Amino acid sequence: MTLLVTGGAGFIGSNFVLEWAAQSDETIINLDKLTYAGNLENLSSLQGQSKHVFIQGDIGDAACVSALLAQYRPRAVLNFAAESHVDRSIHGPGEFIQTNIQGTFQLLECVRAYWGALDSDAQAAFRLLHVSTDEVYGSLGKTDPAFTENHRYEPNSPYSASKAASDHLVRAYHHTYGLPVLTTNCSNNYGPYHFPEKLIPLMIVNAQAGKALPVYGDGQQIRDWLYVLDHCSAIRRVLEAGRPGETYNIGGWNEKPNLEIVHTVCSLLDELKPRADGKPYQEQISYVTDRPGHDRRYAIDASKIERELGWKPAETFASGIRKTVCWYLDHPQWVANVQSGAYRDWLNQQYGSTP
Ligand code: NAD
Ligand code: TYD
Repeated sequence: MTLLVTGGAGFIGSNFVLEWAAQSDETIINLDKLTYAGNLENLSSLQGQSKHVFIQGDIGDAACVSALLAQYRPRAVLNFAAESHVDRSIHGPGEFIQTNIQGTFQLLECVRAYWGALDSDAQAAFRLLHVSTDEVYGSLGKTDPAFTENHRYEPNSPYSASKAASDHLVRAYHHTYGLPVLTTNCSNNYGPYHFPEKLIPLMIVNAQAGKALPVYGDGQQIRDWLYVLDHCSAIRRVLEAGRPGETYNIGGWNEKPNLEIVHTVCSLLDELKPRADGKPYQEQISYVTDRPGHDRRYAIDASKIERELGWKPAETFASGIRKTVCWYLDHPQWVANVQSGAYRDWLNQQYGSTP
């Protein structure tokens, strides 16, 4: 049995692949374009293991995807590949449209052709799992109820609009062609291998480097936070038992304003790696111009996945954030390589190519 995972060298994808390999002998074919966000160093512990096959390629390259499907005949495709950073989507939306919409469309077309040619048992067992975000639902007011799966799609950034479009395409391939799809909409993840352009790893890394901790606007924007390995366990559960055509919201029941997140990171660093001058890291906080169109609040109602599939997060925010800060303190070389771009040189050495 084989799975095709796309985007498996990114933050969530690499955590998923590592967890899967630790728990199963089923082979993973990992298709990743290796954009700036893809880092094979995350997967170095799997090197030499035949149950992980890495292919550098684009989900939008139909010839490549079709060839992989024909060669490896996966029982499921899990689509993690995306451009994922809201700020980058504001500066340059083009790549988001290309990968998140066009790429997902090409992937769906290839999967539809592959699935259509399977025998009826294999067709019934096959799944395409599309990994998406809570940001497709738009922004909530302070007292609004959390997003359920029935919430209207109201995306506000080029990133969330492109993810919303991909979700709609996935839905349409189920309704029109009968493709057995599953969609998950998850809240903000944090944990190991998170690229330090996103809030939590940026704060951990900047704090230690003595740099400013940039808080957008008043820092009172609210996100729901989920430890990445809890997201991975939810995806495994949806793959195993989710009903085709359904969507599942995944969240940690951890709504927190950004400023509280930054304060928590600072306090943990004060405890685990105090500043040389003995002053608190909070002194490095700097309020900067707000993100244009910044969504004020996201909150996930994860009761459907809990009720129907029996999934619950294992980590509280307190336990997950402590693990995360410790991981970054224990992996200074990973951070240094990402920041210097050295992982690209490492790629060259290991694989004779750079993206
Ligand atoms: P990431 O940016 O860390 O990783 C994305 C990966 O996809 C990278 O390895 C990149 O090289 C690869 N990729 C990009 N374009 C590609 C293409 N055209 N073909 C093949 N590979 C390509 O993102 P992430 O945080 O790991 O997010 C993974 C998925 O989960 C995304 O679909 C994202 O929308 C979704 N998601 C993320 C979060 C979060 O908090 N990070 C929350 C909910 C959902
Ligand atoms: P981010 O990690 O980019 O995730 P997303 O935009 O997908 O939610 O940002 C999380 C929140 O933190 C978001 O409200 C923007 C805010 N933020 C800052 O205040 N400062 C920063 O430097 C970054 C990167 C984000």
